[in-house]
Amino acid sequence: MHKRMAEYLVFWREFRQTFHSTGAVLPSGSRLAKALASPVAADERPQRILEVGPGTGAVTGHILRQLGPDDQLDLVELNARFADVLRTRLKEESAWQRVADQVRVLEMPVEQIQEDTNYDVIVSGLPLNNFSCDLVQQIFNQFHRLAAERARLSFFEYVAIRKAKSLFCSASERRRLFGIDRMLGHEFARWEIDRQCILGNVPPAWVHHLQLPGNSRTEVQESKINSTAASCLTNS
Ligand SMILES: C[S@@+](CC[C@H](N)C(=O)[O-])C[C@H]1O[C@@H](n2cnc3c(N)ncnc32)[C@H](O)[C@@H]1O
Repeated sequence: MHKRMAEYLVFWREFRQTFHSTGAVLPSGSRLAKALASPVAADERPQRILEVGPGTGAVTGHILRQLGPDDQLDLVELNARFADVLRTRLKEESAWQRVADQVRVLEMPVEQIQEDTNYDVIVSGLPLNNFSCDLVQQIFNQFHRLAAERARLSFFEYVAIRKAKSLFCSASERRRLFGIDRMLGHEFARWEIDRQCILGNVPPAWVHHLQLPGNSRTEVQESKINSTAASCLTNS
């Protein structure tokens, strides 16, 4: 309980100091975290898993519970304070220690990962609606580049968040949100296989589950992705 409170406090402090990249007041609730982690259990073969923006580890805990003995998990976190929390949990909490040698903490923005690892599962907690359309596009290009064939990508967004924000913002902000909406719409149209509405989260959230073609097919997809980018840029 004491540890949970300490994590909430770190999250709250980071929300106030780095709102743009933290994007939420509190860590994800357990129903949302469970839905995001669900693709990890879907395969019995060894999996390479990437969690993007783990924060204090609310979703990570659910991923760890389902980690097989030959699975590998990379946690890519841009915020140094959150990365410290994750490293401490890997050292000090028994459920985390048990699999610590299968887990790496990469302290960097996901869009700057240079490695050529192909991940079977990508779970993202990024606050995409806080980012420029250009950055959202870079991040999705990176997801496609890092994806193994038929990789699962799961990420969430709060229900009706772009519509709600659009009601109270400037015209340029509305164009940015419209660009993100359009870009995500292209991704959903091509790759979404399921979506879940998590009403029990505060606020309620959509979890999107996509199946990506994988980077071996990225060249085939590249022109489509770039044309989406063009529409994104002309609207931002
Ligand atoms: C909304 S919080 C989600 C935290 C956690 N996954 C959860 O559900 O409680 C967003 C997280 O993404 C991280 N983040 C933001 N931009 C990032 C980037 N470009 N690369 C990696 N992590 C990023 C933030 O530091 C923060 O930890």
